[in-house]
Amino acid sequence: MASLVAIYPGSFDPPTNGHLDLISRAARLANHLIVAILRNTQKQPLFTIEERAEMLKEISAHLPNVEIDCFDGLLVDYAARRKANLIVRGIRTVADYEVELQMAHLNSRMRPQTETVFLPASAEYSFLSSRMVKEIIMLGGDAANFVPEAVQRRLKRVN
Ligand code: PNS
Repeated sequence: MASLVAIYPGSFDPPTNGHLDLISRAARLANHLIVAILRNTQKQPLFTIEERAEMLKEISAHLPNVEIDCFDGLLVDYAARRKANLIVRGIRTVADYEVELQMAHLNSRMRPQTETVFLPASAEYSFLSSRMVKEIIMLGGDAANFVPEAVQRRLKRVN
């Protein structure tokens, strides 16, 4: 079977325990997993791209086939540049599925060579999102139960 190069794209602002769970599981499925941070997001970020890349590197340091990278523009163009044959996305809820299905179909139309696979979020992380972690932090709460230790250290500095 051909070597599987997978991309796990996202904003990762900040990376959560749910992201780390997905990275670990996707790393077992692919020969090489690229965790790709979207650069040109419209959202008001909590962390810079560089900080997010640093955190992702730290929390995935024990996974030798995982690479952290950033990308601009269309995901399918990035997938073509990186010769990736798989896009991995996590699904927590039916609402996620609707959005992700649309994105998967559009991406598949633009670049049929790259297949999208959905991984169900593990039950214990199915309620977790970066947006909610950000809100907890902004309102002075403690997100220690929701993010890896390396992320928690930086969140404390933001708060
Ligand atoms: O973590 P997120 O914010 O849910 O990730 C969304 C992401 C980065 C996967 C998505 O917005 C994306 O792929 N953006 C790149 C631009 C693109 O290709 N858009 C067309 C998708 S149909």
